[in-house]
Amino acid sequence: MGRPRYTGLMSQTIRPSIQTLPKYVAGKPIEEVQRELGLDRVVKLASNENPLGASPHAIAAMQEAVTKIHLYPDASGYELRHAIAKFYSLESNQVVLGNGSDELLTLLGSVYLVPGTEIIVGDPTFVRYNAAATITGAKEVRVPLRDDMTHDLPAMAKALTEKTRLVFLPNPHNPTGTVVKKAEVDAFLNDLPKGAMLVLDEAYVEYAADLPDFPNGLDYVKDGKPVIALRTFSKGYGLAGIRIGYGLASPEVIDAMDRARPPFNANAVAQAGAVAALEDQSHVAASRKVNQEGLDRVAKIAADMGLRSIPSAANFICVDVQRDDKEVFDELLKRGVIVRAGGPLGLPQIIRVSIGTREEMDIFESAFREVMAATALTS
Ligand SMILES: Cc1ncc(COP(=O)(O)O)c(C=O)c1O
Repeated sequence: MGRPRYTGLMSQTIRPSIQTLPKYVAGKPIEEVQRELGLDRVVKLASNENPLGASPHAIAAMQEAVTKIHLYPDASGYELRHAIAKFYSLESNQVVLGNGSDELLTLLGSVYLVPGTEIIVGDPTFVRYNAAATITGAKEVRVPLRDDMTHDLPAMAKALTEKTRLVFLPNPHNPTGTVVKKAEVDAFLNDLPKGAMLVLDEAYVEYAADLPDFPNGLDYVKDGKPVIALRTFSKGYGLAGIRIGYGLASPEVIDAMDRARPPFNANAVAQAGAVAALEDQSHVAASRKVNQEGLDRVAKIAADMGLRSIPSAANFICVDVQRDDKEVFDELLKRGVIVRAGGPLGLPQIIRVSIGTREEMDIFESAFREVMAATALTS
């Protein structure tokens, strides 16, 4: 993306890195597609949301919290931080709340990064790590994923220098859904220079934590390793719209983030909803079940059609469509199905499909089969 033409007086003092910082491109909203294409029924499988919605207990707690919405939230997030700490057998001074885990990414940037320092990320990766570096003037060092779309931790270890401050490792990875193994993370941590921290972005942990060899960020935090685990209520708990995430780390890291965060970054409704959501683990288990069925189903549809899919431990799956991904995206859109085209995510010829309810996946399947029959293979 080139530099936009800024002509106003105050534009001249905008930092050059901000002038070129790409804006986040989110999955298309349902209403927008309905408006633009005149469709009644639109299914959104584009933003890795929870198709079961939020737990009814969380919804009831949020409705109750709305009645007190004229009051500022508890700035310390006491109840939620204590509930999270209890859930994970940590101390409450090892928990920081965020306006989504997304906010914690840039917060980490403002705490640890200055010009001359570096972050290390996979390539491709979740776009918001770049913002943490760009906003602060730090350098982003990108290390290509392996052919199987997993992070190449030995290659990332080779990129470590005395300038490295943060290494962002989403596990499961977005956009590929792949996971790294515990032995690889253990080895990587041995190579981490003093003063550098591994950011285990575990936005999808509720879907993956039971996998054998999963490197659970919580265990590293408990062992006192230089790790922060970032988690969210947006995915497994179905609370994406209310924006609430959290970080688990040592008290010294949490204390620094606590000083730098906006005082009321976790809103009152979100805090109440998250406390109730955490108590309803049966909803998380039901979400996991629907998700696994959906993942297996898309993998099978792809295999039936002779297409490769990337084995996923998250709530989305990538399919190599062997066609122009933008064309497949557009054709699915015309049939009322929103997915993500892989190109802008760094995965050309791939579409990323979030898992929906059984009914939503029925609609996806028939639209996908139609589109695959109607579009040409890329030569
Ligand atoms: C890898 C990863 N990290 C962080 C986030 C941000 O999640 P939230 O800000 O909703 O907690 C997402 C959202 O899609 C993600 O995929």
